[in-house]
Amino acid sequence: MTQVIRSSAELREKVAGWKRSGMLVGVVPTMGALHDGHLSLVREARRQSDRVIVTIFVNPMQFNNADDLKKYPRDEDHDLALLDAEGVDVLFAPEVAEVYPEGFATKVSVSGVSEPLEGAFRPGHFDGVATVVAKLFGMTQAGRAFFGEKDWQQLQVVRRLVEDLNIPVRIIGCPTIRETDGLAMSSRNVRLSTAERAAAPALHRILQAAAATLRDGASARETLLDAEDEILEAGFREIEYLDLRSVEGLRPLERATEPARLLVAAWIGDVRLIDNIAV
Ligand code: PAJ
Repeated sequence: MTQVIRSSAELREKVAGWKRSGMLVGVVPTMGALHDGHLSLVREARRQSDRVIVTIFVNPMQFNNADDLKKYPRDEDHDLALLDAEGVDVLFAPEVAEVYPEGFATKVSVSGVSEPLEGAFRPGHFDGVATVVAKLFGMTQAGRAFFGEKDWQQLQVVRRLVEDLNIPVRIIGCPTIRETDGLAMSSRNVRLSTAERAAAPALHRILQAAAATLRDGASARETLLDAEDEILEAGFREIEYLDLRSVEGLRPLERATEPARLLVAAWIGDVRLIDNIAV
């Protein structure tokens, strides 16, 4: 049975016991509303660790939009059943006051890699992510942590964070899990109307085509302008960014002359979707 823990003191005791018996502890940080993308991280954690903690915490500090926070889907009972079926040892699901008690005053801010793309369109978002992830590493004391490539920039921010602050955790990046029609799984997909859900897979299809063109040496400016038109024609209402970037530092590239990533954020109805693929 997956044990539900809400206090960091209790979690610390539990983990200390495991570590005394020499066990390797893995953690999968999430905001809940779990789908197969999250569960793929859990399975990888299971393979690579002796004990697995999944955290569910809808972190108010990383939401730059109050409405998005309010509408964020929550269903802990269902999540717990899924985690139990995966053999997860502990679900750590703290209240907001446990993570941010009265007097909380610290912010972790990663510069550089967190500034473009999501950082430009969601001010403060990555400060919230870096702060909570640093806290979750402190609270879980895990030796390995599993993150999805779905949030490519987040993965780079977390790698920078643990290197810069000497946090003793190994970061494992895991591939994006998609629906059969190519749409990247996301907790926000449940908010798509039937028509939006039908249109949404175009995003991945268009990314793939653009990546193929870029691999052939085409210029990013031209290729991505065409791709933006196609995304809008497919039913998206606004594109925040569609960019070719270096894989780790996320430097803008005009051609795919080095390992690159194509990253996009676009709105369909009132849902903001992000995706990215290797070029
Ligand atoms: P959340 O969006 O719940 O995602 C939790 C983890 O699942 C992240 O590492 C994310 O990249 C991964 N993930 C989501 N969809 C995926 C998919 N389709 N395939 C593979 N992995 C996927 O990301 C967060 O929460 C938060 O920012 C968090 C790191 C928990 C900090 O609050």
